[in-house]
Amino acid sequence: MSATLLPASDKTAIQRAAEILRAGGLVAMPTETVYGLAGDAGNGEAVARLYAAKGRPSFNPLIAHVSGIEMAERLVDIPPLARRLMDEFWPGPLTLVLPKRQDAPISDLANAGLDTIAIRCPNHDAARALIQAVDRPVVAPSANPSGAVSPTTANHVAAGLGNRIDLILDGGECRVGLESAVVAVAGEVATLLRPGGLARDSIEAITGPLQNAGESDAPASPGMLKSHYAPGAAVRLNATEARPGELLLGFGDIAGDLNLSPRGDLTEAAARLFSALRELDARGADTIAVAPIPGHGLGEAINDRLRRAAAPRDTQ
Ligand code: TXA
Ligand code: MG
Repeated sequence: MSATLLPASDKTAIQRAAEILRAGGLVAMPTETVYGLAGDAGNGEAVARLYAAKGRPSFNPLIAHVSGIEMAERLVDIPPLARRLMDEFWPGPLTLVLPKRQDAPISDLANAGLDTIAIRCPNHDAARALIQAVDRPVVAPSANPSGAVSPTTANHVAAGLGNRIDLILDGGECRVGLESAVVAVAGEVATLLRPGGLARDSIEAITGPLQNAGESDAPASPGMLKSHYAPGAAVRLNATEARPGELLLGFGDIAGDLNLSPRGDLTEAAARLFSALRELDARGADTIAVAPIPGHGLGEAINDRLRRAAAPRDTQ
């Protein structure tokens, strides 16, 4: 049996999705970054079903999605620096890892029993309407089998998880195309745990220089698996031409078989990255060779995803 697909702009579809979530079911919802697989954060059984549907290791905690700062306050303590980040960037592609409140209505399985919770308010009307209709935080990892390329269309979701979930809300293509940046805030110290759809520069304008994950005292992000975002084909980085058996993913002047952004625009490249990897996979490449991508702005997150896509697959 495969999941029902309904338009995310339809109010009755949102109501139906909310009922499914309240009953412990799983719904794929569009966000501005990638599609998320939503489940009720407070329902341990729903969260267990969600880990199972994705084949995701349960030590890898999930992001609780909220409809706004008020809902976030039910879950976490919000130090002034985190509030400034929320005021500036929410709703948007910034996840904050903050100290968990003792009475937080969240299953231990959802945050892997940690004393912190990752929270985010998505900049997508349908996602926020759904969370509001459920009236509870909703956990939502990217709606793909664990380790695979994240979905940026409803069809991507259907192809990967269609027979394991109850409903897919179709909101078209995701605008940003890369997962949120994940930043841990402890007092006045902010640490970048995962580069993402909000560039480091923008965050640092509020926080000052970010600590990097892995530096002394910086908390680790347990879910940063080395091999991740992997297409079926192998991936070779910093390529200027295709070798036999390869298809070339171009950028800027390196045309390639498919080009992430002929005008060299990193925002456009980010939005196209995951679809492009799927497309070249579907064309039957043994190896996807990828042109060099500059490291500034969203290039940091693009290169992070590409390095993981290229990592040896047995390191998961
Ligand atoms: O854009 C996004 O963030 C998407 C959309 C659907 O919202 N969601 C997403 O979720 O990318 P997921 O589960 O694929 O990634 C969550 C990341 C993982 O790297 C996880 O380890 C980290 O956030 N994380 C979650 N809770 C954490 C915590 N308490 N401490 C440190 N890292 C945490
Ligand atoms: Mg993911």
